[in-house]
Amino acid sequence: MTKLSKEYWEKRYIDNSTSWDLGEPSTPIKEYIDQLKYKDSKILIPGAGNAHEANYLFENGFKNIYILDIAPSPLEYAKKRINLPSSHFIQQDYFKYSELYDIIFEQTFFCALEPRFRESYVKKTHTLLKDGGCLIGVLFNFENKLDGPPFGGSVKEYTSLFEPFFDIIMMRPCYNSVPTRKGKELFIKLIKKNNGN
Ligand SMILES: C[S@@+](CC[C@H](N)C(=O)[O-])C[C@H]1O[C@@H](n2cnc3c(N)ncnc32)[C@H](O)[C@@H]1O
Repeated sequence: MTKLSKEYWEKRYIDNSTSWDLGEPSTPIKEYIDQLKYKDSKILIPGAGNAHEANYLFENGFKNIYILDIAPSPLEYAKKRINLPSSHFIQQDYFKYSELYDIIFEQTFFCALEPRFRESYVKKTHTLLKDGGCLIGVLFNFENKLDGPPFGGSVKEYTSLFEPFFDIIMMRPCYNSVPTRKGKELFIKLIKKNNGN
C-alpha cells in the first residue's frame, strides 16, 4: 500500500495542484528528442501526466508512442490533444504493466514514487525494454527521502540502483534544465543489460 495511490494523483489533477507540470516538454528531453533520427522506435512515457513530452514527440513525427499513467484525468486531457489511437493511452499502474519498448522516457515519475519502490522501478523498467533498449530522461539530484514527492537522490545512489540492470552511458548534471530546475537535475541514458544482473 502507498499513500501515493491512484486516488491521491487523480485528486491532485482535479484540484489543479500540479506544481510539477512545466506546461511544456522538459528541455533536456526535448533537446534529446531533437537529435533522434529514427522515428519508428516504440516509446513509452510512464507517469506521463499531461504528456507534454509525448505531445512533442508526436508533433515531431513519432507515432509509435504510448502514454501511461495511473490517473485517468491527465490521460483524458492528453487524448484530446494528441491524435493517437486510444490504445496508445494506457491507464494502469506501471508496476502491473507489461509490454516491450525500445525507449522509455523518465520525467518526474521516478521521483514521484516512494523511495522504497525504487528497486521495483528499476526491475520493471528493465523488463519493459527490448534487448538494447534505453531509459532516457532526468532524475533529481538533491537529497530528500522524507517529505516528497518529489523524492531526490544522488549519482552514487542511482548508480548502485541501476548498474546491476543497465549500462550507464550517461548520468551527469543537466546543462539545459528549465530555470526552476537548474542544478537539480541529472540527465540519464541507460541501456538495458541483457542478463539483468
Ligand atoms: C509528479 S507527476 C509527473 C507527471 C509528468 N511526468 C510531468 O512531468 O508533468 C507523477 C505522475 O506519475 C503518475 N503515477 C504515480 N504513480 C504511478 C504508477 N504506479 N503507475 C503509473 N503512473 C503513476 C501520477 O499520476 C502522475 O501523473
